[in-house]
Formats: sequence, C-alpha cells, structure tokens
Amino acid sequence: MNPIRHSQDKKISPSKQQNNSKHANMSNGMNKSINDRSTSYRAAITGCGSFVPDKILTNEDLAKMVDTTDEWITTRTGIKVRHITTGSETTAYLATEAAKKALAKANLDPAELELIIVATITPEMVFPSTASFVQRSLHAKKAWVFDLCAACSGFVYGLSIVQQFLESGRFKNALVIGAETLTKITDWTDRTSCILFGDGAGAVVLERQNTGRGILYSTMSSDGERWEALNCQAYGSRYPADKKLDDPKKIYMQIKGREVYQQAIRRIVEAVTECLHVCDLGLDDIKMMISHQMNGRIIESAARRLKLPDEKVFINIAEYGNTSAASVPIAFDGCVKQGKIKQGDIVIFVAFGAGLTWGASVIQL
Ligand code: UT7
Repeated sequence: MNPIRHSQDKKISPSKQQNNSKHANMSNGMNKSINDRSTSYRAAITGCGSFVPDKILTNEDLAKMVDTTDEWITTRTGIKVRHITTGSETTAYLATEAAKKALAKANLDPAELELIIVATITPEMVFPSTASFVQRSLHAKKAWVFDLCAACSGFVYGLSIVQQFLESGRFKNALVIGAETLTKITDWTDRTSCILFGDGAGAVVLERQNTGRGILYSTMSSDGERWEALNCQAYGSRYPADKKLDDPKKIYMQIKGREVYQQAIRRIVEAVTECLHVCDLGLDDIKMMISHQMNGRIIESAARRLKLPDEKVFINIAEYGNTSAASVPIAFDGCVKQGKIKQGDIVIFVAFGAGLTWGASVIQL
C-alpha cells in the first residue's frame, strides 16, 4: 500500500488460518466457512483517504444552544469539536472527495474500479444510491455500485463483503466508503444526542493480492430485537412523508445512550476476542485497534477489558465526534498519516451501531 511503507511483514498464511478452524466452533456458520475456505487471494488495502467539511462546531458553541458544558462533553465523551456540512456539501460530495484521495494513494484509475460500496445512513436521496452519484463523479463506468445500511458498522460490513468478492477472484478491486451527514438528522434541542455527532467521509481501495497482505478474517453480527436503541424513523414506509408524524421528533436520530453504551462495550470485546482467537493472534501481534469512534470512554473501557495497552488503541474522537460509518476509515487514514501503522502491521477494525449491528476485521497492511 502506498501510504504505508517500510514493510516488516508478519505473514499469516492461508494454511495457518485453516489450521485455526478448530477455533471456529465459537463463530457462526458464515465465519466458519470463511475460515475453512482455501484461498490464495486476499483483499489488501492499497490506498486510503478521508475528507471532512471545514466548518467546525465546538463544545462551547453547543453550550450556547443546549444546557451543557465543554467540561461535561469532554469528560463523558472525549469530543471537543465536530465538522459540519454547509451548503452543497452533501453525503455524495464528501464520499467522492474521500474516494479521490484513496484512489490517488492506491494509484488506481477510477475507470478500472469494479465495485463501489458506500456505507451510510444519511444517503444523498432515498434512491438512487449515494454510490451511484460517486460513480458518476469519479467516471467509474465499469463499477457495480450500491449503498450499505448498517449504521456505524457499515464500513466494516462493507470490508467483509469486498473480502468475499476479492478472495473468490470475482473482482480485482473495490472501493469502500463510509460517508455521513449526521448533522442533517440531529435534533439540536436534545442535549443527550446533539453533542455526539459530526459529518465526514473516509474511503479505502482494496485490491486482490496473493502476497499474504489483506483481510485475514472478518466477523459480522446483528440483533434486530434492539432496533429501538438507535433509530431515525421518518420517512420510510412506516412513516411516509405524506403522513403527519405522531411525534415530530421522529425526523431526528433518537438514542438510548446508556443501553448503547453497555451493548457497545460488550460487543466490541466479543468481536475482537473472536478475531484474535480465530486468527490465533496474541495482543503482541496487533499493532493497533481502530474502533468506531462513538465515545472515548466506550473505546477505553473495551480496550481495558481486552487488556490492550493505550498505544495500541487509536482514538481521534476529540476532532471529529461520532461520524457513524465514516469513523473507522477516517480514523484509519489519520492513523496512517500520523505514521502509527505501516505496511506489514496487523490492525483490527471494529465497529458497533444501530440495528443493532457490530463487526470486526483483522487486516495485515
Ligand atoms: O455510535 C452509536 C451511537 N452512539 C450512542 O448512542 C452514544 C452511546 N452513549 C453514550 O455515549 C453515553 O451514554 C452518552 C454520552 C450519550 C451519555 O453519557 P452517560 O455517562 O451515559 O450519561 P447519562 O445518560 O447516564 O446521563 C448522566 C446525566 C443525566 O442527568 P441526571 O439524570 O444524572 O441528572 C443526564 O440528563 O447527564 C445528563 N446529561 C447531560 N448533562 C450535560 C445528558 N446529556 C448531557 C449533556 N450535558 N449534553
């Protein structure tokens, strides 16, 4: 990967992964079949990029809008500022800007792209997909495109989908983007939620390689029973635009913060533990855990339970807030730019969000 140099590869061969199939009984059937599959191809990240709007909303700004303080927001979440869109900065625009940077780093002509996935819960329109607009702007005429709605887990889900297509040999490359304009569905009078969210996009290019680099393992899970913990109910088929809402607040995100908090820690720990176990990796093998940035305390608490030292946990929530599907690729790009990870390192991406959904990927860079 061009932005990650100075290789010091720890190669985990496909055969080593297969040897670990004894561990797969802790995973669901889908994971077992991934682990058992004999493959020489992997989905390697060859470029990354991110883009956030210039406009910043500080904690002090929020304290003028709702009953809160910089001190409360900082100590309870770790957030200091978030970026917010203005004017023509739509989700597709953010996604396209991030994608251009990732493609440039990968040195890949958009005309060669075969698959574009945009993970988002704040799409450009109801339809067509945000990915269609990205394809148009990039002139990526060959690409097969769609949006993926798995909330904050969307980007990690997207990686797992791409893994299947690249490992099978069906595609040579793919672009996965997480892009959100959450501030468009934020209730600026609700102090429990409006302090959390920001806008932005991050993207990675993945290419089929047989160098040993790439996604070693990925896991995805969901629990639809808990959909009410995080939602935005208007305007779908249940609450269509032409029907008066019983509660006007349904046009905004609604969160049950405490429930999400507890579930997030539990599921992050489970997903990362599964990844380590199935890949037969110890904490020493992991260079960095790059988590969805939902709350600094959630990430720190999960890391403590996993016994991951601080230097192996990347947190950039202070600068961006929670950008849902965009947060893992924005964090990854930041981690690369800061020189904290390089080619050959093994990293774990992990995310948790509405659905509920959660998932993780182990990747050798
Ligand atoms: O990516 C997934 C989406 N993310 C989420 O859903 C967020 C996950 N949850 C969280 O990050 C945390 O639960 C929050 C940041 C939302 C809340 O932090 P908490 O430590 O769980 O606080 P709490 O909800 O237990 O509330 C503690 C107190 C309450 O007052 P009382 O009842 O103790 O008098 C709240 O009313 O803090 C109050 N409070 C605030 N005070 C000042 C809630 N929001 C604020 C605020 N400023 N913005």
